[in-house]
Amino acid sequence: MTIILDRLRQATAAEHTALENTPPFNALMSATFSGQQYGQVLTVLHGFHREIASAMEGLHAHPVVHMLHCDTILQALERDRTTITGPQASPFNFPLSLSACRADVLACGYVWLGSSMGGKMIARWLSQQHPHQPTAYYASLAACSKNWAEFRRYTSGIQLNESETQRCCLVAKTLFEELRSAANKLTEHLTEAS
Ligand code: HEM
Repeated sequence: MTIILDRLRQATAAEHTALENTPPFNALMSATFSGQQYGQVLTVLHGFHREIASAMEGLHAHPVVHMLHCDTILQALERDRTTITGPQASPFNFPLSLSACRADVLACGYVWLGSSMGGKMIARWLSQQHPHQPTAYYASLAACSKNWAEFRRYTSGIQLNESETQRCCLVAKTLFEELRSAANKLTEHLTEAS
């Protein structure tokens, strides 16, 4: 475990747990799962992946960006969303301005690739329990999980100073917070509408 991975995990562990417990994410791998909630999950994640793909555009030669397969994942998400009835616009609205600095790239890489670890389990669960649901996104994400070990190796050779480390943790934590905020906005909005 490297120092930056330790710090990232410490900075985001509570947020990860909170996100897993927030509707519609809490419906994944649960008996209460429905197609409507799945559509909401994909809508929130679409906003997240669009934000990162746009911030990483032009950085394809960067070793971390190379591990992410941003375009493939976005296309898979869009394919799944065309077959599910659900909200079209994602309320994900990232409040920080992302740049090409290594703190931001590492933070995005951490949250993006880390999500492939849970994604691997969710892909397996979907294919076993809900084989009729579209799974292009989770299947592609699960395939990217093999890059997690490479990401860990890469970060072990990187030395960030304290201010870079703080920026990196802030970006990662804010990504989680915004995922949760977008999930809340979407589910509140739909509850009001019904
Ligand atoms: C409700 C759905 C989710 C479940 C059930 C879930 C589950 C998990 C699990 C079990 C791990 C640990 C994997 C391991 O160590 O082998 C993990 C790691 C991680 N997940 Fe999730 N996850 C979910 C959603 C997300 C989302 C939406 C994101 C962000 C977009 C995310 C980001 C991460 C990160 C960054 C890690 C790596 C933590 C670390 O080891 O430092 N997860 N997840």
